[in-house]
Amino acid sequence: MSEASRKESLSVRDNRTGHEIEVAIQNGTVPAMDFRQLKDGSDDFGLMVYDPAFTNTAAGKSTISFIDGGKGILRYRGYPIEEVAEKFDFLTVAYLLLHGELPTSAQEAEFKEVVLQEMCNVPEHLSAVLEGMPRDGHPMAKMMALISALGTYNPESRAVRDPDVRKRHTLRLIGQLPVLAAWVYRHGKGLPLQAPNPFMGYEENFAAMVFGSGRNHPVNPVVVNALRVAFILHAEHEFNAGTTTMRVAASAETDPYSSVAAATATLAGPLHGGANEAVLRMLSEIGSVEHAGAFMEAVKRREKKLMGFGHRVYKAMDPRCAYLRQMADEVFQGLGKENPKLGLALEIQKIALEDEYFVSRNLYPNVDWLSGLIYSVLGFPVEYFTVLFLVPRVTGWLAHYDEVLGDPEQKIARPRQVYLGEGERHV
Ligand code: CMC
Repeated sequence: MSEASRKESLSVRDNRTGHEIEVAIQNGTVPAMDFRQLKDGSDDFGLMVYDPAFTNTAAGKSTISFIDGGKGILRYRGYPIEEVAEKFDFLTVAYLLLHGELPTSAQEAEFKEVVLQEMCNVPEHLSAVLEGMPRDGHPMAKMMALISALGTYNPESRAVRDPDVRKRHTLRLIGQLPVLAAWVYRHGKGLPLQAPNPFMGYEENFAAMVFGSGRNHPVNPVVVNALRVAFILHAEHEFNAGTTTMRVAASAETDPYSSVAAATATLAGPLHGGANEAVLRMLSEIGSVEHAGAFMEAVKRREKKLMGFGHRVYKAMDPRCAYLRQMADEVFQGLGKENPKLGLALEIQKIALEDEYFVSRNLYPNVDWLSGLIYSVLGFPVEYFTVLFLVPRVTGWLAHYDEVLGDPEQKIARPRQVYLGEGERHV
């Protein structure tokens, strides 16, 4: 078709009525509301689009991250994830995600100073909330409660339409989340809580608060670097389930603390961020390389699910997983210890990448496939892994929170239902 005769629209004919409409195509999408014009009679509400898991629905415009699922590409504000993970520390990437551009040195210094100050200002009494919980309670449930409780100390954050208020609480949440996460780790182990050190970097502070035995306790640089990379790789991933929860909460003008608590609940699920924990439990259940083949047959019979594989958007290798594979070797070498489950994981991966069942369904390893193997070697318990996903992901969520509240096209998110229940009846 020639350029001149090409039209950026869709012609739709309703075969029930013969009614035709023309719908504009913009950015590869058509506005769902245009279909409401198609009515089967005067009392018909109009045609809706049925998409129960949002598999083909774009719920907003965004400039934060980009995924090409077919090619296995992820970019933050246009920069390939591999370059960002190679060159920057976490807070520089956080600045990029929140502001859209890399900081100048003065902006970077100011941003880091404010976040580290916030880190040192977590309300002390908040730890009483944690003390009221059982030690063996799930760390993600503890995080959710602590984040909500932190919101009670920040009533001003409810003024969500004020960009300065949003900015202040964004920096507070990014600064204070690692402290709460470190508390949760120490509480689970029955250890005293550690204070942050304003003269240490973000990742180092977190490692020191988790593993250290005092404010100036040196932390192994291999551990700090592994956390830096893992934090960057997990910081943002466009409209996934957790981010969608955050965006929906933002659309209702919910304060940022409650919104983050809600998104944390979604992230905790084993099909989402909780998959990193589920992978390690699955590998323990399989036990050893000799049992890998039988397990994979059970997956194909649909008796089991291969956790850490598959993705709604990636139909190729998740670039974060490829990066983590390389990092696993560096960490194991740097710490002088391997994860004994790595061999089993690689054997399962080999089977999956060659077997017709997985190949035909484009099932590749995702970010959760290898992260837990690294976290174990760093010294984190299995049930804690998803907290390590949460701490950096809060930055991506807050970038989306701001985006929703600054977007004049956004309104309260409110899907419609297809009602298939009883018609009116009487008792
Ligand atoms: N193991 C076995 N079969 C699978 C898997 C898997 N992990 N994932 C998808 N399939 C099959 C699925 O049964 C279906 O087969 P069929 O067409 O014959 O019915 C086909 O592949 C397409 O899958 P789907 O269920 O339509 O895919 P989805 O986009 O709805 O689900 C997913 C995506 C990530 C929830 C799913 O792949 C899954 O449950 N994976 C395991 C959990 C996991 O690793 N989650 C982490 C995701 S990445 C990080 C994050 O989001 O936090």
